[in-house]
Amino acid sequence: MSLAAVEDGQREFSFSDQDFQSLARLARAEFGLSLAESKKPLVYSRLARRLRARKVGSFQQYLTLLETADESEERLELISALTTNVTSFFREKHHFETLKSELSPDFGKTGKARIWSAGCSSGQEPFSIALTLLETIPDAARRDIRILATDIDPAVVSRAKRGRYSNEEKSAIAPALQSKWTRLCPDAPSAFEFNEEIRKMISFGELNLMVGWPFKGPFDAIFCRNVAIYFDHETQQKLWSKFADKLRPGGYLFIGHSERVTGPAMDGFTTAGVTTYRKIAGSGSALEN
Ligand SMILES: C[S@@+](CC[C@H](N)C(=O)[O-])C[C@H]1O[C@@H](n2cnc3c(N)ncnc32)[C@H](O)[C@@H]1O
Repeated sequence: MSLAAVEDGQREFSFSDQDFQSLARLARAEFGLSLAESKKPLVYSRLARRLRARKVGSFQQYLTLLETADESEERLELISALTTNVTSFFREKHHFETLKSELSPDFGKTGKARIWSAGCSSGQEPFSIALTLLETIPDAARRDIRILATDIDPAVVSRAKRGRYSNEEKSAIAPALQSKWTRLCPDAPSAFEFNEEIRKMISFGELNLMVGWPFKGPFDAIFCRNVAIYFDHETQQKLWSKFADKLRPGGYLFIGHSERVTGPAMDGFTTAGVTTYRKIAGSGSALEN
């Protein structure tokens, strides 16, 4: 008996290589996810709980269920189980320093800005963007300064919309910003929330980056950090090029610490710092407002 069969025998559900390949194909086609063979044990442990929750007895049955037209919610559960929503306020701080020093001064002068947080998870990233802008433009919420924040996972988008976080996360926010833009939650002493003014700056929505984007742009900056890490090289390339199309000339793309723009996608960008890129004027097909 092979080692795999022995392992399989110990599992609650059988999970053949064919089951894994079928799941990997579906995850790639629907969400751009790249699942290497080495991820098979991880995929099993993450999805076994979905099989239990849906009371199906095998991965084959689960796959049949996923392919059913009205199971779009289960497909979202699938991506939620296979990716992580880990995030924090002012994560990868250097991007916010660039936003403050390179972009904010112009926004202050023109009173206009468009920023997209693509893969915003539970909202700490767009709130960090808003806080950074408010540092230099205190009346930003009353000007034409807007942040679009999207994620594929409806559960994190609804947490983000609520704008309520555990007090433990507060220390990442400078005390002056805390006192100006946050308040304690009267009904939950262990939590804080952002006040109305800052919340007005952000529009939250559900969006799968692998399907059509229902907005024109152009954006002054796009944050897409620690999202493309799940995608294969070809999917990443397409995504970076699509971002170039949505940026104004000179606009910034900020990506995660383990991600890089490489190959043909780099034709549209120039490097502007650590995991920071600027759209080259004249490249892509971004439309001006
Ligand atoms: C690790 S979090 C990153 C959050 C934030 N950008 C940061 O760097 O802290 C990755 C997020 O990407 C989202 N995601 C994964 N695949 C996606 C897709 N195809 N379209 C949109 N969002 C996706 C996940 O739901 C998750 O919330």
